[in-house]
Amino acid sequence: MEFTRRDFLKAGAAGIAAVSVLGNVPAFAEESRPEFQGKKKFAGIGSCREVTDDIVYVGASDRRIQLFENVYPIPRGVAYNSYVILDSKTVLVDTVDRSVTGQFFENLTAVLGGRGLDYLIVNHMEPDHSSAISEVLVRYPNAKVVCTKAAAVILNQFFACDISNRSVIVGEGDTLNVGKHTLTFVMAPMVHWPEVMMTYDDVSGVLFSADAFGSFGALNGNLFADEVNFAKDWLPDARRYYCNIVGKYGPQVQAVLAKAGTVNIKMLCPTHGPVWRKDLGWLLDKYSKWSSYTPEDKAVMVVYGSVYGGTESAANAVAAKISQAGIADVAVYDVSKTHVSELIAEAFRCSHIVLASITYNMGIFTPMKNFLLDLEAHNLQNRVFAFAENGSWSPVAGRLMKEIVERLAGCSVVGETVTIKSSPSEKDSGALNALAEAVSASVLGNAASPKAAEVKAVKKWVCTVCGYVYEGESLPEGYKCPVCGVGANLFKEA
Ligand code: FEO
Repeated sequence: MEFTRRDFLKAGAAGIAAVSVLGNVPAFAEESRPEFQGKKKFAGIGSCREVTDDIVYVGASDRRIQLFENVYPIPRGVAYNSYVILDSKTVLVDTVDRSVTGQFFENLTAVLGGRGLDYLIVNHMEPDHSSAISEVLVRYPNAKVVCTKAAAVILNQFFACDISNRSVIVGEGDTLNVGKHTLTFVMAPMVHWPEVMMTYDDVSGVLFSADAFGSFGALNGNLFADEVNFAKDWLPDARRYYCNIVGKYGPQVQAVLAKAGTVNIKMLCPTHGPVWRKDLGWLLDKYSKWSSYTPEDKAVMVVYGSVYGGTESAANAVAAKISQAGIADVAVYDVSKTHVSELIAEAFRCSHIVLASITYNMGIFTPMKNFLLDLEAHNLQNRVFAFAENGSWSPVAGRLMKEIVERLAGCSVVGETVTIKSSPSEKDSGALNALAEAVSASVLGNAASPKAAEVKAVKKWVCTVCGYVYEGESLPEGYKCPVCGVGANLFKEA
């Protein structure tokens, strides 16, 4: 008998109660088809796509969602990716957000074709990938959950789901043979949660990479990145996704990229966005730059915060002069009208950032201050900044913006802060031109005598066991790794 989502819903309270005490799940019938030999046989209405001969995409897209994580606008929707490996054993790799469980179970049922499920691999416990786990465990009572120790703890915290009697806890380099496939587990702590791991399949060369290499954007039938115009239609959302969600954890991403370099990866299967089977180097190069806080482009973004237009006018004047100096694709943003996630992504892309802000409540204009604090929270580094401020009687925004930027590692400042009073006038043109010239010279690499001053280099201490990175002058006395618990003696300076 096939157990459908409708049957599950009919189970009602009994089913829900069972979810909360999974150690005692009801034995819903599931038909086994041991004669199945791993050939592609899925049928039914599902929206599945073959990734390889025996790996099938069973995820689903949400096009109704407005805000991802209740923060990030995603007008193009988002995909929650999940995969099935059909071998002697059946394996489900990650599940989906609760918003798309209908489509997901339709797909999973079609792909399993009546077989049971032997393993559920949980690479990442964040609920956008794990909120269907409880239902999977009820539907497939023989499935074992393969995950890290931390994932098992967090699963129970979120969903009161105790898997202690059906879990396979794995660590770095552990393997699981499921027939012709042998899966190797690669720990990826803090990319971007502590329990994250990735799963590598030695037969196909697929790396199931959790959130890494993912993107905002619903999948519209096309599963592979080479089936869409990724650079044109997807890259901005892929960048915005990475920078805002994972951007803070660059050192941890670098650690995983170093591990990835030691195996032959033929395909990247992330938990969001398209699957990569061609031009992996192109995407890996983007990740290398983003995670090392290296500007993706030698480019200028100008961000202004303006109430009555004076600061906007000054920002436009600087942008025009920079363009006139031969710098292409100058990007100008009104900080009040642009979602901060767009600004964060642009800051990761551009090498130079010009900030122009009014003085407001004797401080920085609130949206500009929020943007700068968000940059700091995302650990942006290695950029060149320039400043303009406006204040009708007591301008202070320039000094205060600079104070925040001075806390960013590897950042420097060019030019003198331009101060205007209410509206720029003829007397300000010299200072605005000088600022534009300083920025342009820095971009073009011909600054005769750059006024840039390195402000701060943050020390980093890496846990040699799990890769967690502590930032600070020195490790506190008695410090223990918050991820794996080892002492300070097992940290080394990065
Ligand atoms: Fe897509 Fe970190 O969850």
